[in-house]
Amino acid sequence: MGKFDEVFKQSIDNPQEFWAEAAKAITWYKEPEQVLDDSNAPFYKWFAGGKMNTCYNAVDRHVENGRADQTAIIYDSPVTNTIQKITYKELQTRVATFAGGLASLGVAKGDTVVIYMPMIPEAAVAMLACARLGAVHSVVFGGFAPHELAIRIDHAQPKVLITASGAVEGKKTLEYKPLVDSAIEQSTHEVEKVILFQRDIVKSDMIEGRDVDWTDLVNSSEPVGCVEVDATDPLYILYTSGTTGMPKGVLRDNGGHAVALYWTMKNLYDINPGEVWWSASDVGWVVGHSYIVYAPLLQGSTTVFYEGKPIGTPDAGAFWRVISEHKVKTLFTAPTAFRAIKKEDPNGEFIKKYDISCFKVLFLAGERTDPDTLHWAEDMIGVPVIDHWWQTETGWAIVGNCMGIEPLPVKEGSPTKAMPGYDVQVVDDECVEVPAGTEGNIVVKLPLPPGTLTTLWRNEERYVKSYMTKFPGYYETSDGGYIDEDGYVYVMGRMDDVINIAGHRLSTGAMEEIISNHPDVAECAVFGADDQLKGQLPVGFFVVKAGVTRDGNEIKDELVKMVRESIGPIACFRDACQVPRLPKTRSGKILRGTMRSIANNKDYKMPSTIDDPTILDEITATLTDMGYVKK
Ligand code: COA
Ligand code: AMP
Repeated sequence: MGKFDEVFKQSIDNPQEFWAEAAKAITWYKEPEQVLDDSNAPFYKWFAGGKMNTCYNAVDRHVENGRADQTAIIYDSPVTNTIQKITYKELQTRVATFAGGLASLGVAKGDTVVIYMPMIPEAAVAMLACARLGAVHSVVFGGFAPHELAIRIDHAQPKVLITASGAVEGKKTLEYKPLVDSAIEQSTHEVEKVILFQRDIVKSDMIEGRDVDWTDLVNSSEPVGCVEVDATDPLYILYTSGTTGMPKGVLRDNGGHAVALYWTMKNLYDINPGEVWWSASDVGWVVGHSYIVYAPLLQGSTTVFYEGKPIGTPDAGAFWRVISEHKVKTLFTAPTAFRAIKKEDPNGEFIKKYDISCFKVLFLAGERTDPDTLHWAEDMIGVPVIDHWWQTETGWAIVGNCMGIEPLPVKEGSPTKAMPGYDVQVVDDECVEVPAGTEGNIVVKLPLPPGTLTTLWRNEERYVKSYMTKFPGYYETSDGGYIDEDGYVYVMGRMDDVINIAGHRLSTGAMEEIISNHPDVAECAVFGADDQLKGQLPVGFFVVKAGVTRDGNEIKDELVKMVRESIGPIACFRDACQVPRLPKTRSGKILRGTMRSIANNKDYKMPSTIDDPTILDEITATLTDMGYVKK
């Protein structure tokens, strides 16, 4: 048995021993009484009885243990021409003082705080300050429109909202404050205070009595220490797309999260304390939570905070410049970023301009790494390119290739093997395991390892229903795929109405809910069509109400505007078409999966329950006219 298989076996045979060992890397105020409390399954509690603080583990202990002058965060912002290095000592001062400011506004253990910020170090300071106080943060990605922010405000019910005046998105400067004001106006929950970080790129107006200037607050506050919390207390809520317009509030605990993330830095990513790590994502996504902020800081490595794009800021050499300038050992990003670079610089001319000899491994996630991108990246950069599969719910990789234990051969199209802690299986709809090579539902036998979701915030029922009901005893990933004879997992895509646009998870159901609100629309369907750059893009079909005679294109433009204004530009909803009717089953269920197969030029089985098969011919003709179906 290879080294990796041995470690994996230990983690599955003796999970409690395995994670108890990993937990030694964390500083506990009080050791856990129980490694795993499974008395109320499927609500598992890792490290019950343990007392600790995530911010202490990510910041203060490094200052106490000889890393005070080591760089914790490198802020690299080509869009504002800024490079800033923040040591662990400076980070401690900033976080402790900002936490003092939050406390002076009444934020205490258990309170919720919404953070809506661009990729600036103040976002990490805000997150860590919440953790310091035992407050629960909920970061909302800046590409979401006010309506989406309002939904999250109403559900998370924050005492305080922290934002910045704006962001630079490629070449555009966007003002965030009016979006925040509009979201607060749309929400029914009353946010007591808004803390505003004024950036040089754009200044925003303040609302008297409600808004507090970040700098003023910090200047008038005293640093505060770390509050002792239970390992099982919540650290953050991160909303992610489900199949409806109401996102799921994934809840993460403190102890399990710290243990698991620390463990992955060396074992999965082969990063040691003090080395430079770069996750080119955004703090608004799970990758940003886990691998821009928490994991590298918990380990005492250096994390790059990059405010820019892979291309256009200023060119397709941006990633190579950052790697070479900051001596990055490992980069983690989404395949779409590499497809964008490949499109602009197919022969890798920009790579030749930089010394990237420090660069050792490229990790990709967020969507499947297609073979073209895999091989192009391997050829151009000459380092291992490692796909790994995970979800907001799990917070870290479910399937991967542990570079710090034993690098396994890469097979194209597969993120490699189940990670230690995850007993991954593929089952049919009756929950029977299928033979190797057969596609089915990818599930994980319970309990999930530490660091994964503990429940959905204020919605235990949805947690049980969404993840734990269809396949009793297993976590339902909602991804389909298969496992080959060597144990390599192949993830083929979502089985539900969630799509992946440029590595961002969005709900077609949420888009349908918005489109249905148009006064002329009787019914609609949105599904994902394959896209060469972004992986998938949404396509909408709509049927108008009887008597509506307006031009379909005019309605389409209105629908595009509605989705952009409600969900945000990040939904990339640009293509829709009026159709006379939608294909359905006899019981009235719209056949979205069949339309998706047609749009993506994939073979499909005629559903036996289809009401009228001739509609599929109409749909095929429309998708041909729209340019999706290749003749
Ligand atoms: N705040 C406000 N708006 C944002 C935003 C933010 N933080 N992020 C994106 N947007 C906007 C963009 O400006 C764009 O708006 P537009 O329609 O007005 O042009 C829209 O949302 C779509 O953005 P994006 O999908 O990023 O497309 P792009 O064409 O600007 O860039 C890529 C394409 C491939 C370069 C880009 O998607 C990318 O870098 N992807 C990497 C993804 C990633 O890191 N994923 C994290 C998971 S690991
Ligand atoms: P998110 O919750 O935003 O991280 O999105 C999770 C979803 O992205 C998964 O359920 C998958 O459908 C998809 N995904 C993420 N990483 C991969 C990968 N490496 N291979 C295939 N799909 C992936």
